[in-house]
Amino acid sequence: MVKEEDVKNVLKKVIDPDLGIDIVKMGMVSNVKVDENSKKIECEIVLTTPACPAKSKIEDDVRNVLNEEFSKNYTIDVSFKSVVKRAPENVAYKTQASKIINLDNIKDVKNIVAIYSCKGGVGKSTVSVNLALSLANYGAKVGLLDLDLHGPNVPIMLGLVGQPKIRNSKIVPPEIYGMKVISVGLLIDNSSPIIWRGPIQTTAVKQLFEDVGWGELDYLILDLPPGSGDIHITLSQNIPLSGIVVVSTPQLVAMIDTIKGVNMFEKMGTPILGMIINMAYYLCSHCKEKNYIFPRVDINNHDEIKNINILGEIPFDYEIAELSDKGSPIVIEKENHHISKLFLEITSKVAASLSILSSKNLKV
Ligand SMILES: Nc1ncnc2c1ncn2[C@@H]1O[C@H](COP(=O)(O)OP(=O)(O)OP(=O)(O)O)[C@@H](O)[C@H]1O
Ligand SMILES: [Mg+2]
Repeated sequence: MVKEEDVKNVLKKVIDPDLGIDIVKMGMVSNVKVDENSKKIECEIVLTTPACPAKSKIEDDVRNVLNEEFSKNYTIDVSFKSVVKRAPENVAYKTQASKIINLDNIKDVKNIVAIYSCKGGVGKSTVSVNLALSLANYGAKVGLLDLDLHGPNVPIMLGLVGQPKIRNSKIVPPEIYGMKVISVGLLIDNSSPIIWRGPIQTTAVKQLFEDVGWGELDYLILDLPPGSGDIHITLSQNIPLSGIVVVSTPQLVAMIDTIKGVNMFEKMGTPILGMIINMAYYLCSHCKEKNYIFPRVDINNHDEIKNINILGEIPFDYEIAELSDKGSPIVIEKENHHISKLFLEITSKVAASLSILSSKNLKV
């Protein structure tokens, strides 16, 4: 006779490849049932993110170990789902934060990830939009907040028009392609330049966190403006960010500038999840050879950048820009395109890094 404990013991053989911890210890095994009458074993495996890069490996390993041990006498019914983990409490934030933003409104947001670069025009908004959409494609509950007050590009990139509605004194973020989106570009008349002085910027950022009905979210992605100005300072001092994803073009001057601004977030204890190298190369449309349009940097030769995790490279591609301008990003318009697959891969790495951080206390 097989007991539930026996099933769990067998499942301990399955190791999460990212963490090196068995899935029972990770708390990923639930609802184990053994029915001796029908000779059936049931269990549920709960992954820490629907974007888990090791998803199919874990699924295969679970089926293999259970079949090997029990399939002679039992039928096996395993189901898989995912419940995104909440980012761990940021200790530096807790002790240092200036706390001018009330966090009650975002208490059901599990992870807040800022897309950052000190440099302008390197592709932060493009990455924010395609990464947020990729997370939504994986099945996560996603929000995208465009914090670029001077040049909000997200509405154009998503083809969003019209002012959001107000319900119960909260701004209702419009939903598009399965995610919630708010941009200052949707809230104000965007046709003339706006001058935001420092304190007004802080108030605007405060409102976007306190007054938007974000509800329950697995991931809230923040598209930041370039630089390290008032918005960045307000954010790093007031919002418990789960991590930063840095975007840079490949040449040394861009990378060095980009990394400088990262220090401010690091000081607040915000994890740097890694860097995406955008416009990394151009793929020849005839011979498919990679042409490097910028000089390549040997990261290992530069102390400032050598410790940063490279999440992936996105090529320079006409369609990325064309589809952004049309309001239908590449991961939506052409989901089988090799660049959409690159975005999915990178997104999966970001989600895995967040899962690792939230499971870190499990490490022995
Ligand atoms: N990999 C790419 N290939 C071709 N065009 C790209 C690529 N990435 C971004 N672009 C285009 O480059 C321009 C700048 O990109 P984007 O607006 O995303 O940069 P940004 O860093 O957000 O800029 P800003 O600092 O002004 O906010 C846009 O027209 C975008 O469509
Ligand atoms: Mg931008």
